[in-house]
Amino acid sequence: MAKKVLDANWTGSYTKPSPRLYPHQWNWDSGFIAIGYAHYNQDHAQKEIESLFRAQWPHGMVPQIVFNPHALGNYFPEPDFWRVPEGRPTSGITMPPLHATACLHIYQHARHREQARDFLQTMYPRLLASHRYLYKYRDPERSGLVYIRHPWESGLDNSPTWDGPLDNIEIDKKTLPDYERKDLKHGVPPAQRPSDAHYDRYVHLVDLFRRHQYDEESIYHECPFLIQDVLFNAVLSRANRDLVEIGKTLGLDTREVEEWRDQTASGISQRLWCSDCNQFEAFDLIQRRLIHTPTVAAFMPLFGGTASPSQAERLYNYLDTVGFCALHQGNCFTVPTYDMSEKGYDPHNYWRGPIWININWMLFRGLAEYGYKQKADSLKRDLIQLPIRFGFHEYFDSRVGKGYGSDQFSWTAALFIDLIYDYYREDGNRLWAIGSRKGRRLESPRILNTVDSLTPAPQKNIASTLMAAIVDLRTRYFDIHRGRVDYASMKESPEYLAFTKTTGLLRSFDVAQLATPDEKTAFWIDLYNALVIHGIVELNIKASVQEVANFFKSVSYQIGEFVFSLDDIEHGILRANARPPYAIFRVFKIHDRRRRFSLDRVDPRIHFAVVCGSRSCPPIRFYKPEKVDDQLNLAARHFVNSSEVIALPEQHKVFLSQIFRWYERDFGGRSGVLDFVLRFLDEGEEATFLKRHAHLVTVNYLSYDWNLNH
Ligand code: GLC
Repeated sequence: MAKKVLDANWTGSYTKPSPRLYPHQWNWDSGFIAIGYAHYNQDHAQKEIESLFRAQWPHGMVPQIVFNPHALGNYFPEPDFWRVPEGRPTSGITMPPLHATACLHIYQHARHREQARDFLQTMYPRLLASHRYLYKYRDPERSGLVYIRHPWESGLDNSPTWDGPLDNIEIDKKTLPDYERKDLKHGVPPAQRPSDAHYDRYVHLVDLFRRHQYDEESIYHECPFLIQDVLFNAVLSRANRDLVEIGKTLGLDTREVEEWRDQTASGISQRLWCSDCNQFEAFDLIQRRLIHTPTVAAFMPLFGGTASPSQAERLYNYLDTVGFCALHQGNCFTVPTYDMSEKGYDPHNYWRGPIWININWMLFRGLAEYGYKQKADSLKRDLIQLPIRFGFHEYFDSRVGKGYGSDQFSWTAALFIDLIYDYYREDGNRLWAIGSRKGRRLESPRILNTVDSLTPAPQKNIASTLMAAIVDLRTRYFDIHRGRVDYASMKESPEYLAFTKTTGLLRSFDVAQLATPDEKTAFWIDLYNALVIHGIVELNIKASVQEVANFFKSVSYQIGEFVFSLDDIEHGILRANARPPYAIFRVFKIHDRRRRFSLDRVDPRIHFAVVCGSRSCPPIRFYKPEKVDDQLNLAARHFVNSSEVIALPEQHKVFLSQIFRWYERDFGGRSGVLDFVLRFLDEGEEATFLKRHAHLVTVNYLSYDWNLNH
């Protein structure tokens, strides 16, 4: 599907960023797009870059947009407004210089090496000229940092970072040229786009450039917007590094580029680092100060490779907070563009909160190179999930994942392709996200509570002793807000040893002691959850419980004289011995003595209380008999209001977790599922829509993420 998106947007010489909103060729889009093509269509990858560089200006600038003369009329501003010298069909600004990075990537993945080498040979002088332009004209102070002179040059057009500098620009409405915005005519709601006041300032800047006939020196003296941006300089750093590698591959002298590389790296590290805020920030050359806005650009020196190890560590710690939360159970997907705890954070507005794949892709690469492998891998898996679940959108809601802006968006498709290839290569063909089930098989049952406890506990206290051991583990190794578990450190810990010994006590536990349904429900849910964790740690599960094909069937505890596997507990007991999904038989056959422990009826809320060691399942909580009813309500409410239940009123669709499909009968069929969702869904747009249109909506099921919740 990703390839189809790119094919449909391919014009013969370049790829439109999206079919309607962006019909021309965009500068850094082409870089990202070529990175995707590089894996399967070297010819398109090379042509994409060559087409962009055919429009390079004589002094080396690679323009932000190359207009397609056959697609004019739908975008603003177009060539008639830019009025660039010699009637070139381009805009008069540039964008983050990603192209040396893209060219090196094409070469590294090329099937036809010789052809790729020729390509590098043609491109090297052009790339060199584009960097030389930046250092010659955009770094007049020789600080190693280049400035942007328009928000559109940043690639993050509408970022809150530009608010202050734009607000400082005085506009005289009388002298502002007439113009008509076209960006609101493609069905994207105005709330997701920049404001009119900012548009006036965008236009004011373009007008200034054309009045100066694009002469960089005089623009520098007059322009009220001159900013040394973090992302731009970080991308340039990476490109310098990659350009050196290209030069060396071709046997050329790369000293000039090496000097740029070192100067920019030290400029970023020194001038753009705000040590009080643990982040990199843009420097405003007009106000002569850093701009304090916690946007995702702050982390880009990880991609640029210019953060020192201690800066990287501090960035990482900041990235790993709720502000840039990376887990959907905490109600957000991957890394949003703006700190979620900021007042101006908005999950749908363009660069003010949503997730963009290109940004997350750069972060993924940066984190991986700095050795934050676990975070990088988790980011990669989330990124792969987003388009699978919601389509190839321009950007995505950072809380629930649904897609916004343009759909059929080229760089989303291209970078998805790059990530998928990486995933197959790195993770040894185990694409659990899409559901292959080829794990090793275990002997069945595999009883885990074989270690003896040193201190026998009195019968009636076994459940609470076990819970106390789990609470100890939870305190240290479970991040309950994010539903994550640090399995690796857990395994080595004294708390884990204590826990395994406590499970030994279960061997002399008499289940018949559990009297009330509440006691039973709480006990069995807790036991199930403990056994899942125990199984993951003992069996050294690395990426997904699906590594063991019969995980749920075989992982077991001996309780009194009986053995209970995870399936026995879930289906036999908690689901009142209902048939497991896709199974022919119930788990307790007619003469099974364990049948007497089954609950009398299925309470569908249990599905949001049992964990399965995967990211799509509920986070771990602990259930107590006296509170279990309230706790189950809470669990259901959390789940239904997370990204596992999504309504798209405008498309008359709801997306539900697979749990609702697998266990539809527990909810009383399809209509029972919707009633259940409505019972727990918070008031709001989605609930109102569902109440009114429950009979009209199409129900889609979200792909289940079987990756481990570590
Ligand atoms: C928007 C984005 C920019 C992108 C362009 C084309 O303007 O802000 O980064 O290059 O669309 O996709």
